[in-house]
Amino acid sequence: MHEQHYEIAEGGYANYAELARGLESLLAGEPDLISCAANTTSLIYYGLPELNWVGFYLLDAASGDLLVGPFQGRPACVRIPLGRGVCGTAAAERRTVLVADVHAFPGHIACDAASRSELVVPVVSGGRLIGVLDLDSPRLGRFDITDARGIESLVEVFVRAVDA
Ligand code: SME
Repeated sequence: MHEQHYEIAEGGYANYAELARGLESLLAGEPDLISCAANTTSLIYYGLPELNWVGFYLLDAASGDLLVGPFQGRPACVRIPLGRGVCGTAAAERRTVLVADVHAFPGHIACDAASRSELVVPVVSGGRLIGVLDLDSPRLGRFDITDARGIESLVEVFVRAVDA
């Protein structure tokens, strides 16, 4: 059986370098997009503190909308048009969007009422938009630039691993 070499400090949480190494190991040898996405969300959800939702929204080629993909957390909005909400903005503009207070973001789409701050990173492979990775926190201002760069590094690991 394939042995997984990732660790999360006992009683604590991983830093991004540890998470990136863990993710590389976790995704090694399996290029399936959905399988890799599922394990990526789990690693992040259980590896970082103060999160209530972590998941992918994947671009649906037929409709051009984002559709909810693998995630951890409460049931979420299924379909988000490009340009709408934090996820649709990150996808349309292909840039990381960090929202300290979701109530102050015009057009924010509330899925889990507990969410107070949010970080969304676009997932782009070979110039093609695959979707976004969305993190929600119940704490105001939970995410900073270190989180943004850290989650971007995890998305890079994900993109390298998958056949997308
Ligand atoms: N808040 C997001 C919607 C997705 S949920 O947070 C899971 C948005 O505004 O795009």
